[in-house]
Amino acid sequence: MCGIVGYAGKRDVVSVLFKGLTNLEYRGYDSAGMALRDDGEIKIYKTLGKLINLKNELELKKNEIHHPTSGIGHIRWATHGSPSLVNAHPHTCNCGKLAIVHNGIIENYKELREELIKKGCTFKSQTDTETIAHLVANEYSITKNLEEAVRNSVKKLQGAYAVCVMHKDVPDVIIGARKHAPMLVAIGEDENFIASDTPAIIEYTKKAIYLDDNEIAVVTKNSVKITDTEGNEIKKNIEILPFEPAALSKQGYKHFMLKEIHEQPDVIRNVLNGKLFDIDAPVILNEVKIDADTLKKLNKIKIIACGTSLHAALAGKYLIEDFAGISVEVEASSEYIYRKTTTDASTLVIGVSQSGETADTITAIKQAKSKNSHVLIITNRPDSNMARLADSLIPVNAGIEVSVAATKSYTAQLISFYLLAIHFAEIKNTLDSEFLKHLKHELIQIPSKIETILSDLKPIKECAKKFSSYKNFIYISRGINLATAYEGALKLKEISYINATGYPAGELKHGPIAMLDETMPVLAILIPGGITYEKILSNCEEAKARNAKLIALTSSDDTNIDSIFDIVLRIPKVPEILSPAMTCVPLQLLAYFIAEYLGKDVDQPRNLAKSVTVE
Ligand code: G6P
Repeated sequence: MCGIVGYAGKRDVVSVLFKGLTNLEYRGYDSAGMALRDDGEIKIYKTLGKLINLKNELELKKNEIHHPTSGIGHIRWATHGSPSLVNAHPHTCNCGKLAIVHNGIIENYKELREELIKKGCTFKSQTDTETIAHLVANEYSITKNLEEAVRNSVKKLQGAYAVCVMHKDVPDVIIGARKHAPMLVAIGEDENFIASDTPAIIEYTKKAIYLDDNEIAVVTKNSVKITDTEGNEIKKNIEILPFEPAALSKQGYKHFMLKEIHEQPDVIRNVLNGKLFDIDAPVILNEVKIDADTLKKLNKIKIIACGTSLHAALAGKYLIEDFAGISVEVEASSEYIYRKTTTDASTLVIGVSQSGETADTITAIKQAKSKNSHVLIITNRPDSNMARLADSLIPVNAGIEVSVAATKSYTAQLISFYLLAIHFAEIKNTLDSEFLKHLKHELIQIPSKIETILSDLKPIKECAKKFSSYKNFIYISRGINLATAYEGALKLKEISYINATGYPAGELKHGPIAMLDETMPVLAILIPGGITYEKILSNCEEAKARNAKLIALTSSDDTNIDSIFDIVLRIPKVPEILSPAMTCVPLQLLAYFIAEYLGKDVDQPRNLAKSVTVE
């Protein structure tokens, strides 16, 4: 949700900003812009739509850009004000000497705007960001000190912000400030960076300082100073970032999504690494600080998440209830915040988030913490805000995920839930030891079984080709694969814009069956030998009787369903309880190939952003 990068240093400023924005483009692609300090001026360039348009614009204007020494850049996912050129960042003030980029939402921007208009400020855009530009310029005209002007201004802001400011009269100084939106300062030699997320800078340095709320960074190419909003200097640790630049290349794949789908076997091995290595040894989750006593006192577990992470949570609920016998509720973070009585000190609250920055989930987690609940965070970003709020943590180690549609982070979250559910079962001694061994043995086999799926994509491609012209789909299942049905349908919706709904198979006859005819394919996920198989098969027969086209996703040992289904997709044999870690893969691929046939923008689907930092 918007990306910010700032740079002061020895390299070609335009290239550094452009590279940084390219690596952040998954956060938004409604417009892009840069402010450059060049020839003693602040020069601003903005374009509508994707970053490539900014590249073309900069190429066109290359004769007017000489030797920029610092700059700030932005890619936008529109919230306040439509995606238009006038609303694109950087924004400026009446005199044009100041440039500002912003991520977040200023809640009191209307009041501030009215006050500033009374003081003579002329607004050009509908954005909340322009308010900050005028506010800082106004303060600067009084204090003649940019740092103080930023400090005074942010004290007046309500809401969320990560902002970068530069001013013509304060050469090569970039000031960053944050509250409820991520921001880091990256440290180089004779160069420093500010960014909203690590991919922007990881190709240049691995050293970074994470800003906390209400901190302000004053950055030049040779210095970094962090203060609070009163101007008191704060000593911060320099952290070494865990990511490798290789994660940001497609490595020969056509899209990041396809590359990330193929990374899943190794991602799962990574998640298991150090936590489950021997079927006779207990699962080790070092950063989960919940002992037998705490577990005994728990009366319930509440899992909160959004989007794909919410679907992993649904599978997690099933696993924890099944393995450890603890009652679990799952709720969308944006709904959880309205529930007054559901959480207390004897509730364990689990927050699930790929990015660790989703505003809805952060708000929900803070609410849970205020009720004294123990908070466990499952995230792909142990460096995120959410992870910093955690009492217990499971880092899922999927590596940077660039495609907006989540794939490898989902399987990593699922595997984390298997480990957590087993861990709780081991503490509570709720599972038979032979079953536990079998479970662990099968879990360890999953990466190589996914490799088998990935080694033959032909059936999935054929299915995609055959069904790419359909406008509506229903994905059905029961039990633990209901989460897979929801997630498979979400993948298709996100990247192909086809209307796909995940539904409990047993509910089909209570309403949706009315929609079924030959234009509405039904995709069923059913695993032989499982507790739901026969009933799902009956539900498919009901759909067939209404002329629906049927697709089965089943395992290789399911030999007698070809006569019922139009297409059968298979995964290697697996116990039903573990199957979601594998059934999701053909559905990710099906969505991918359908979107490909339809010529959609797979990695950056319209209207979406990978990390949604507004509620
Ligand atoms: C956005 C993304 C989804 C993601 C959701 C939750 O909507 O487009 O792919 O599942 O946010 O994100 P999180 O980072 O909290 O898992």
